[in-house]
Amino acid sequence: MSIVIDNLKEAINGEYNAKRKYKLFSEKAKNENLNKVAHVFKAISFAESIHIKNHLKALSIITKSSIEINPTEQIDDNILKGNINDTISNLEDAIKGENYESKIMYRKFVKNAANNEKNVAELSFSLARSAEKIHSKIYSNYLKDLKKKRHIVAEKIYVCKICGNVEFGEPPKKCPVCDHSSRFFLEIR
Ligand SMILES: [Fe+2]
Ligand SMILES: [Fe+2]
Repeated sequence: MSIVIDNLKEAINGEYNAKRKYKLFSEKAKNENLNKVAHVFKAISFAESIHIKNHLKALSIITKSSIEINPTEQIDDNILKGNINDTISNLEDAIKGENYESKIMYRKFVKNAANNEKNVAELSFSLARSAEKIHSKIYSNYLKDLKKKRHIVAEKIYVCKICGNVEFGEPPKKCPVCDHSSRFFLEIR
C-alpha cells in the first residue's frame, strides 16, 4: 500500500510545481503581448490545482488522516523563475511535462493503485491522466498556431472543477472526462 501513498505524494508535488510554473508562463506570455496564450496557461494552472485537491482527498482517505496542503518537494521559486524562457519554449516545456505525466507517471500510478485495490487513488490518477492528455493537446495547438504566426481565436475557457478538463467556447453538457454536468465548469477569466 505504501507505494500508492508515495505515488500520491509524488503526484501532488508534480502538480503543485506545474501549477506554479504555468502561472509564471502566463505572466511571461502577457509580457510578450500573447494574451490568449497567457489565458490558457492561467486556465491549465487552475486545472492542476483540481488534481492536487483530488489527490489530497485520496491521500487523506487512504491514510485516514487529514493531510496538510504542504507539498514537500517544492522547486525553489528562484529556480522556477530561472527556467522561464520565451513563450514558444515555455509551451514546448509544458507539452513535455504533460506528456511525461500522462504517458509515464500516471500510467504507472494508475496500475499501482489498481494492483493495490486503492480505488480512490486509481480514480484520482485516471482523471488527472485524461486531463493531462487534453492539456498537452491544447498546448500543442497553441504552439502550432504561434509558430505559424496564425491568429489564435479568443474564446471563453472553462475548467471542470471535478477533473481539470479544459473546454473552449462553452462548457459541454457532460464532461467527457468525468461525466459531470456543465454546472461543474468554471469560466477562467
Ligand atoms: Fe496538466
Ligand atoms: Fe470533468
